[in-house]
Amino acid sequence: MTEDAIAAKGWTARILTLFPDMFPGPLGQSLAGKALEKGIWRCETMDIRDFATDRHRTVDDTPFGGGAGMVMRPDVIDAALAAAMRDHAGPAIYLTPRGRLLKQDLVRDLATGPGVVVLCGRYEGLDERVIEARQLLEVSLGDFVLSGGEPAALALIDACVRLLPGVMGAEETLAEESFNTGLLEYPHYTRPAEWNGRKVPEVLMSGHHEKIRQWRHAEAEETTRLRRPDLWDAYQKRGA
Ligand code: ADE
Repeated sequence: MTEDAIAAKGWTARILTLFPDMFPGPLGQSLAGKALEKGIWRCETMDIRDFATDRHRTVDDTPFGGGAGMVMRPDVIDAALAAAMRDHAGPAIYLTPRGRLLKQDLVRDLATGPGVVVLCGRYEGLDERVIEARQLLEVSLGDFVLSGGEPAALALIDACVRLLPGVMGAEETLAEESFNTGLLEYPHYTRPAEWNGRKVPEVLMSGHHEKIRQWRHAEAEETTRLRRPDLWDAYQKRGA
C-alpha cells in the first residue's frame, strides 16, 4: 500500500493481541464509538496466535535461566509485527510496565500521525531480542502491573482518538487546552447551588468572568502544587 492509500484509511489502531475479542470493547461506546462509526478512526485486531507455526499454535515458552511464567517467542511476535507493519504506517508500541511513562505529549504526537501498531503482551513478557530488532517503543501507563497489555492499549487508543479532528466538540477541546497549561484542572460545580450543606464557591455565582478565571487559575495552581510537586516544578521552571 502507498503512503496515500494508508492515509486515506483514516487514523488506524492495529492491535496485536491474544484476545482480539477485547476490542473495540469500551472504545465502541461514547465519544470513541461515535467516531468509529463515522469512520474517523479504525480499530483492527490481529490474533498473535495466527502467526504460530506449530500444530498447537504455541506463542510462548519457558524462560531461559529459569523462573516463573512464560515468555512470548520472538519468532512468532516478529512474524505478527511484519504482517502488521506491511500496510500500516506509524510507530510500533509495546505496552509494558518497563516502558517510558505515557504522557500527553506522546499522545499528541501519536494522534497527529497515521495511527499506531500496538502489541499487547501477556505472560511474563516478551523475548528482549524482538523488542531490539523491531525497535519497539516501550510504553507504560504507570507504576502498577496489569495482567496484560490490552487494558493499557484501550487507554492509549482512547487518549489518541479523542484528539482526532472531528471527535470532540468545541467545549471539550477547550478542556484539553487547559491540560496544555501543565496544571491539573480546577474543581467543577453544577446545580444544586447547595447540596447536603455544601455550597458552591461564591465567586462562581457572581457572573464576573475575570474573577472566575482568576479563581480557577489559582485553584489549578494550588491543586497542582499540593498533589503533583513534579508537575508544579516543571510548570514553575517553564514560567521562569
Ligand atoms: N502491561 C502490564 N502492566 C502495564 C502497565 N502498567 N502499562 C502498560 N502496559 C502494561
